[in-house]
Amino acid sequence: MGFSLYLLTLIPLLSQCTAQWCYQSQYCDETCKDPNHWATQFPRCGGLRQSPINIVTSKVRINTALPPFNFIGHTDIINITVENKGHSAHFVLPQSVRLTGGALPGHYRAAQFHFHWGGNGRPGSEHTIDGERFPMELHIVHIKEPYGSMAEAEHDTAGIALLAFLFEETTDNNPNMDAVIAALGQVPNNGSSTVIPNFRLSDIIPAAKDLHSYYRYVGSMTTPGCEQAVAWTLFHRTLSISGRQLETIVNQCRFWTGLPMTDIFRPTQPLDGRVVYCSKSGTAQRSVINLQLCIFSVVLMTKALIH
Ligand SMILES: *[C@@H]1O[C@H](CO)[C@@H](O)[C@H](O)[C@H]1NC(C)=O
Ligand SMILES: [Zn+2]
Repeated sequence: MGFSLYLLTLIPLLSQCTAQWCYQSQYCDETCKDPNHWATQFPRCGGLRQSPINIVTSKVRINTALPPFNFIGHTDIINITVENKGHSAHFVLPQSVRLTGGALPGHYRAAQFHFHWGGNGRPGSEHTIDGERFPMELHIVHIKEPYGSMAEAEHDTAGIALLAFLFEETTDNNPNMDAVIAALGQVPNNGSSTVIPNFRLSDIIPAAKDLHSYYRYVGSMTTPGCEQAVAWTLFHRTLSISGRQLETIVNQCRFWTGLPMTDIFRPTQPLDGRVVYCSKSGTAQRSVINLQLCIFSVVLMTKALIH
């Protein structure tokens, strides 16, 4: 009797651990899988089209068939729920927030957005550019219509459209991030949630008309099960955040294990022959000029980072 009671209490603990995954910063040892061992539990994480990647700007290919996006519902005032999921915090978006254009094969409905960050002064973006990691990265997850869930969308190589923005550190606070930062402060523990009233997605990201320049490649979700169903868009335009704001963000949430939620990014994955495309920016011009524009904007971005 005592033994079976012991088993009964042990089984949920065991299954929680074997079903869980962790980031390197969680020092999970044998109890859970860190990114280098995700594939043993989640086989798709060992696939050949994984994300994130390092983007080598000298190797990106200009693609004149990558038009701007149309954002729908991005200026609507909405109430959004924020939940600590144990490995990051999700900001749930209503299906009225939508996306078309950008050479995506269909219409997409927003599901949620979340951030990847580092820890006390360490950068924490998932994608890197020429080997450089940025302070933070925003991911906005969209599911292709008519799919209703990740499970339905994962069999389509473009079932998910992920929009990614890199952050650069500025001396001044970005007041547009205040509501997001305050909400993160209210979801310190796994499972806790709060609501941001009167939120607009356009408060934190630029209008579509200012987002003509982007990288595109095919890849995966960056957390298990690493579904290889993602059309990735990484915008050249960065978002700003101050060092003080970053410090607040990385010190507020805790992992499902109770440790501070820091360094929540997956290491970059092999390209395995994939090509990263770069949209031609702005008005129609000859491709040589577009190549220069593309390189120029990368140079500008790099300079902005140095300063
Ligand atoms: C947001 O929530 C408030 C308070 O519950 C409610 O009065 C308001 O109608 C909601 N707004 C939207 C757009 O749903
Ligand atoms: Zn993400």
